Amino acid sequence: MTEVKRITVLGAGLMGHGITQVAAQVGRYEVCMRDIEQRFVDNGMVMIRESLQRFVKKNQLTQAQMSETLARIHSTVDLKEAVSNADLVIEAAPENAELKRIIFGEVDTSAPANAIIASNTSSVSITELASATRRPEKVCGMHFFNPPQLMKLVEVVRGAKTSDETTQAILKVARKMEKETVLVKKDSPGFIVNRILTPALNEAAELCWEGVADRDDIDKAIKLGLNWPMGPLMLLDYIGSDTVLAITEVLMHELDPKFHPSTGLKQMVKAQMLGRKTGKGFYDWTRDQNR
Ligand code: 3HC
Repeated sequence: MTEVKRITVLGAGLMGHGITQVAAQVGRYEVCMRDIEQRFVDNGMVMIRESLQRFVKKNQLTQAQMSETLARIHSTVDLKEAVSNADLVIEAAPENAELKRIIFGEVDTSAPANAIIASNTSSVSITELASATRRPEKVCGMHFFNPPQLMKLVEVVRGAKTSDETTQAILKVARKMEKETVLVKKDSPGFIVNRILTPALNEAAELCWEGVADRDDIDKAIKLGLNWPMGPLMLLDYIGSDTVLAITEVLMHELDPKFHPSTGLKQMVKAQMLGRKTGKGFYDWTRDQNR
């Protein structure tokens, strides 16, 4: 089995920075975080520092452990350099199938022959991504939840050709990061969590759009009525309405027209009201009040 020592995370955004942090902080792996522009990499490093500082403030991490964690993280904008030494590459790029296919092809060319290539995709087919490489048996889904620093679950998703060895290696890495795992045995759209969650978020956006209830009442209803830690509209902002729309469209095309995206959700994306990532969504995130 591939012994994973060095991990490369592709993407320094909301998920990429969090996965990088967990791999270095909890898994104690040497991690390289790569994004396409230096400003994205810098922003990812700022978010990692802020998050580590929160753990230090809560006495869950010492200042020395924070420094050690940061020392295990390297960053670059050069894809070739990022993957040339990796045992495991975790792709955390935006939720766009074509973009991810291109990345998988490039990684396949530059990564060592025995490296595993995993995707944090929420909805793109693992089998499809694997087909962009010459090592489909070494491609696997490794789906973290936002924020990866706090959420306990990782969905491990087998593509049609993923080997048992690759699956076991990914399960082992997830456990080393102290995550709970579930195995998705078939590469089915939305896997487990998003197949159930995304229709609910889509429906919450539609309720708001139709004016059936106000934003705060929709969120209050689900928080108190279903004991969710945050309401669906706040969670939508947290994940990003563009990501939720992308997942919803995959469910609609691949599974059933009944999953069609609501007008409310599409309007939010058209207006670039993507939530936390653009500062405005159902809530205003520019004043820091909801962070
Ligand atoms: N790093 C370190 N610590 C953090 C942190 C971070 N990034 N974010 C929050 N914290 C800490 C805070 O310091 C705080 O600690 P304290 O209670 O000891 O002071 C604690 O976490 C709680 O933070 P907040 O009070 O700011 O916020 P909440 O109480 O709302 O908790 C939450 C935050 C854990 C995110 C909680 O709201 C939650 O569980 N929300 C639901 C998240 C969820 O459902 N995620 C899954 C989305 S679906 C997905 O990701 C799949 C994808 O494919 C779409």
